[in-house]
Amino acid sequence: MLDKYAILVNKENPISENFYKNFKLVETTDVENNVIKIEKITYENYIKLKDYLSKNKNIEIGILNSFRDFEEQKKICKEYEKIYGIEKAYKLAAIPGTSEHHTGLAIDITVKKDTGKYALTNEELYEEENKFKIIHKYLYLFGFILRYPKDKVEITKYNYEPWHIRYIRKEIAQKCYNENITLEEYYL
Ligand code: DAL
Ligand code: ZN
Repeated sequence: MLDKYAILVNKENPISENFYKNFKLVETTDVENNVIKIEKITYENYIKLKDYLSKNKNIEIGILNSFRDFEEQKKICKEYEKIYGIEKAYKLAAIPGTSEHHTGLAIDITVKKDTGKYALTNEELYEEENKFKIIHKYLYLFGFILRYPKDKVEITKYNYEPWHIRYIRKEIAQKCYNENITLEEYYL
């Protein structure tokens, strides 16, 4: 594979259950202190992004989730099907095999609210949109893109997710940001 970090994973481009073995996953903790896994270079750049936002923008970010295996993804899908019904569920969660979370290159980040607590639910996360909008401007500096932007729902086929960022390396991230294009459009 030419550049494993540039992989496109979406509804039309599924990956195998063992794809994550192309990467070195490391362990860290989420904001609730659960042990989670994440791709090594993604994590190193996440830490740089976190420090940058804390020092320069007074915004504190944390991790909600990164690597998920097929089984974990299946659980999320079942839960969403129950809550939202089938049609809406798959605008929010990817069918196992089609989620970027299987690579360890995607992170669902959260942000500290003015109360000092991290936003945890989707509702709380959407309420922090102003902080996320600032965060989104600096993602490319650390090789990340906002994967499911508000104005690209028709292209990504997923609802706006201000929290889901994807490590892709700086060159592509900068191009996507400058040209306001998604990974799907980058590969057209
Ligand atoms: N929420 C994104 C689409 C996923 O499940 O991978
Ligand atoms: Zn996500």
